[in-house]
Amino acid sequence: STSDILKGKKVMITAGPTREHVDPIRFFTNHSTGKMGYAIAKKAAEWGAEVTLISGPVSLEAPKNVKLVQVDTAEEMRQAVFEHFKASDVVIKSAAVADYRPAIKHLEKLKKQDGSMVMEFERTTDILKQLGEEKEHQILVGFAAETQDLEHYAMKKLQSKNADIIVANNVKQTGAGFGGDTNIVSIFHRDGSKKELPILSKEEVAEELLKDIIDLVIHKAQG
Ligand code: PMT
Repeated sequence: STSDILKGKKVMITAGPTREHVDPIRFFTNHSTGKMGYAIAKKAAEWGAEVTLISGPVSLEAPKNVKLVQVDTAEEMRQAVFEHFKASDVVIKSAAVADYRPAIKHLEKLKKQDGSMVMEFERTTDILKQLGEEKEHQILVGFAAETQDLEHYAMKKLQSKNADIIVANNVKQTGAGFGGDTNIVSIFHRDGSKKELPILSKEEVAEELLKDIIDLVIHKAQG
């Protein structure tokens, strides 16, 4: 059956938010709970893949038969991802990685002062983009959290990140995106094909995505 295709394949999945620290007690983050990425990890492991789950801080338990690597910042996530990249067959980037971090991480608590405050931010590394540049045999899957023009931004990300698949979710839609147990996604491929899915549980979304990845694996094996 098709689900045998993933047996023994090395699948790396990123999940959850990152934290970008201002001082020892404050950080910037986002609403990701890790549910989407953990659901993919669970399904991939059930279908026989050797799964490494690189996770930002979330309150979920690691699924069975999954190797969990816990990270905090975007930079820690980047390092963990590149430690496992060469050996991976498939990489799925469902984490919500910060695009910016405070330019200065204060070693002591910032004290309040009179008046308003301006803080400078600097860019983090775009991990997906770097993966696309260093990609060899790997199948690379990115996510796109958008609030408008899904198809346009997804197709742009496929090209600019050299990804094989982009999973786009409109995070403004009820039942989609951050936090809940469901998602509404469209899966875009490099050949221009797309699969628009209705509202599904995050586990069902994981199954649909893994089926598309399996098709790609079969396609690649046939040259
Ligand atoms: O965790 P849940 O609560 O279940 O929510 C699921 C989700 C909404 C987080 C998930 O479905 C999702 O959309 N994840 C991607 C969120 C995101 O950061 O999207 P983006 O459009 O900003 O980034 C695009 C892609 O680049 C993503 O694959 C992201 O992992 C990657 N990226 C982004 C920034 C960065 N510095 N490095 C990256 O690799």
